[in-house]
Amino acid sequence: MKILVTGGAGYIGSHVVKALGEKKYDVAVYDNLSSGNRWALLYGELFEGDLSDIKRLETVIESFKPHAVMHFAASIVVNESVINPLKYYNNNTSNTINLLNAMIKHKVNTFVFSSTAAVYGIPDKIPVTEDDPMLPINPYGSSKMMNEIILRDLSNANSDFRYISLRYFNVAGADNECRIGQAYKDPTHLITRALKTAIGQFSKMQIYGTDYNTPDGTCIRDYIHVDDLSNAHILALQYLFDGGQNNIFNCGYSCGYSVKDVIDRVKKVTKKDFSVEEVLRRQGDPPLLVADSSKIRRVLGWNPQFDELEIIIESAWRWEQKLKKLFNE
Ligand code: UFG
Repeated sequence: MKILVTGGAGYIGSHVVKALGEKKYDVAVYDNLSSGNRWALLYGELFEGDLSDIKRLETVIESFKPHAVMHFAASIVVNESVINPLKYYNNNTSNTINLLNAMIKHKVNTFVFSSTAAVYGIPDKIPVTEDDPMLPINPYGSSKMMNEIILRDLSNANSDFRYISLRYFNVAGADNECRIGQAYKDPTHLITRALKTAIGQFSKMQIYGTDYNTPDGTCIRDYIHVDDLSNAHILALQYLFDGGQNNIFNCGYSCGYSVKDVIDRVKKVTKKDFSVEEVLRRQGDPPLLVADSSKIRRVLGWNPQFDELEIIIESAWRWEQKLKKLFNE
């Protein structure tokens, strides 16, 4: 089966491309390389292009003739979305419409969508289930929620079109063989910032807010290893190919760690002490986000292999050390 992966040169996309390649799928990647890297592709052919370039996109779909599309290409930084919302509505919502238009035109009817826990906003109860309302508190979450609504309406209008939305919680970690991992030019994610501070790339790190209504006052998140998330994509794709119907799944471990917990674990794993400064809250951060992941375990038979924060941090730490050597970052 042929799978077109948008954003397949990026952090999560490249891990899913690896998993698809290992399962012998025929993969092509559509990526504008704005945050992805050519070296991150362990399998498949790269078609360089932007999702706003409809002609290029259609040419690639016409020539590759995918049986399914997996859509990762997106802007993902919560705080940036508050400052520059139109970037998020363009890159995440308009570009998804371009992609869906091209798919419908060329009769590609199977779709796996990268959604996010940010669609929930500040949930009434934790852990949050897929049936809880979507009430995003930042443009990033809103841009992804709009896509979920578009997918629902499109599949209602077109019974041939089937999709799965995977709502990612906080993705971290790297390939176990250390071939690929997170390599953003301007990393903002907690585990990456902490590791880059441990390795000396930053002189200190900051905790954004210690006055949240949580046990230690810092935000709580559900961290998931990127390879477990990749495996969820393979199961979702297989489910659709086997005739499964539209569905939405949380991707997390149902286990929450505070910012302070994460920093302590990073110090333990790396055996490095580093300076940590407590500063004001960052805009757009919900205090608490933890997944109820029983649905994906039950329906797709998802069985995570790396569901332990230290395993995630260890793999990301190996990757950061390799990155430093390779690129002398
Ligand atoms: N944080 C710090 N200091 C840092 C970086 C982050 O205190 O240097 C805090 C944040 O304020 C937040 C927590 O650590 O409370 C996690 O922040 P991240 O930037 O690592 O991740 P987010 O929770 O903001 O967002 C991530 C993804 C989104 C996804 C969301 C789902 O980037 O795409 O997880 O929970 F939607």
